[in-house]
Amino acid sequence: MTIQKPRRRSQAWFEKQDRDGFVHRSWTLKAGHPQDEVDGRPIIGICNTWSELTPCNSHFRELAEFVKRGVLEAGGFPLEFPVMSLGETQLRPTAMLFRNLASMDVEESIRGNPIDGVVLLMGCDKTTPALMMGAASCGLPTIGISGGPMLNGKFRGKDIGSGTGVWMMSEMVRGGLMTQQEFSEAEACMNRSAGHCMTMGTASTMASMVEALGMSLPGNAAIPAPDTRRNRLAQLSGRRIVQMVEEDLGMDKILTREAFENAIRVNAAIGGSTNAVVHLLAIAGRVGIDLTLEDWDRIGKDMPCLVNLQPSGHYLMEDFYYAGGVPAVMNEIRHLLHLNALTVNGRTLGQNIEDAPCYNRDVIKSIDQPFKENAGIAILKGNLAPDGAVIKPSAASSHLLKHRGRAVVFESIEDFRNRIDDPVLDIDESCVMVLKNCGPCGYPGMAEVGNMPLPKKILEKGITDMVRISDARMSGTAYGTVVLHTSPEAAIGGPLALVHDGDMVQLDVSERSLHLEVSDEELQRRKAEWMPPPMPARGYARLYVDHVQQAHLGADLDFLVGKSGAPVPRESH
Ligand code: FES
Repeated sequence: MTIQKPRRRSQAWFEKQDRDGFVHRSWTLKAGHPQDEVDGRPIIGICNTWSELTPCNSHFRELAEFVKRGVLEAGGFPLEFPVMSLGETQLRPTAMLFRNLASMDVEESIRGNPIDGVVLLMGCDKTTPALMMGAASCGLPTIGISGGPMLNGKFRGKDIGSGTGVWMMSEMVRGGLMTQQEFSEAEACMNRSAGHCMTMGTASTMASMVEALGMSLPGNAAIPAPDTRRNRLAQLSGRRIVQMVEEDLGMDKILTREAFENAIRVNAAIGGSTNAVVHLLAIAGRVGIDLTLEDWDRIGKDMPCLVNLQPSGHYLMEDFYYAGGVPAVMNEIRHLLHLNALTVNGRTLGQNIEDAPCYNRDVIKSIDQPFKENAGIAILKGNLAPDGAVIKPSAASSHLLKHRGRAVVFESIEDFRNRIDDPVLDIDESCVMVLKNCGPCGYPGMAEVGNMPLPKKILEKGITDMVRISDARMSGTAYGTVVLHTSPEAAIGGPLALVHDGDMVQLDVSERSLHLEVSDEELQRRKAEWMPPPMPARGYARLYVDHVQQAHLGADLDFLVGKSGAPVPRESH
């Protein structure tokens, strides 16, 4: 019996010999391609987030050329297309506001075009989840390629990490431990090559998540951007996506619940960013997997952190790559992973990581002597966060993981900035800093402002950490005892909105609790007096606040949850 190959989508555009077929072929081939270069070949869309406004992705045109080589070698026809790029350092009010918009761009660009398989070029923080979400809603055979981290920053003979070094040095300037001139000199020393932040920030975390999910070739996450092995991986990925189309290996065969559980465990083992929580919840939502905050706590709770990388540790991504990268970490925790999970190369995760070596035990520790114990992201609940809040214990101060303190409340990030260094601000290191209205609706877009800098007068005492609570996110490169993603958020009337100066707050990470010592009756009275903040009146921001889900659900737009597949839309001529 002959097995009929699945019909490819692109044949609906290119196979017909009528007027419509003429239009599709003639315009596609006008760069001078011979007709047989498209006839009968899988069409591979290369989804590119290159932009000079996204410096972390500025080398993606070169990377795309290597993908094209691979696609052509394997008998496919590559067509590169741009989607909205999200530059973490430039985009205001926050790149996260546009993650869902970019994902819609990706989804509709794939579905509306003659594409059989997709290569995602992803780098700067939000570009990875945006592309994964959009592609997942279509479900075609898809392979991810990360742009790779920058080379280590080098400043005055020492390594400095992007993001982490900025937070650290700016606090040193405010505390009088570093001059403004030294601070300015570091600008050119920190970010000195192509690639994304080279700490285990959100970009490196999400690249590792893509690899742990099985959505990239092994080793993808850590190869530095300027290392030519990155180009080689791009070319091999180009070859592989053509085979994936022939095998009809769609995303739903790879993005299973087991794959997400693997990713949660790997996130703990690498000391990954808290941002992975909202992004993985959103990606899972696009493929109909009911991943929850409780899964994060249950699966990640007892996981050790093995990777000694900033912001939790010492080293940087370049060191991580030379030490063995994500495959070495996964091999170390292989007994905790679903080894049968399928990956894009057609092999199982277990096959991919078999014998993956570790070359430097100072960078990647063994499971027997981990870098930190119990390092999984912890989910807190209580009357201050009925739907949950997130903390990264590996980046927190151990003496603050159980703490009771007096709330010092800031109604907005501007209120915080205006008052934090005011000498008359009634605050000491035992207080709990509370920041409101920075969640999905409140900012809008859930900005990375949760790691509030400490008051100058406290820094000058040599104190570097305090308990901080907000409905915001924090940069994956940041650190501290910072409670984030408090849900429901203040701007929609969550309990966070009802905290007053002087209220006592209890944090107990081992008990997973976050409690406001205010009676239910008093909270009800405050709620009755609460006034919602103004919301955006028009444009995408209006659409966003009308439809965004809360952080504990992944902050996706409600109408984007789930998938629509990639049926061929009706003809347009
Ligand atoms: Fe792009 Fe950090 S600014 S990854």
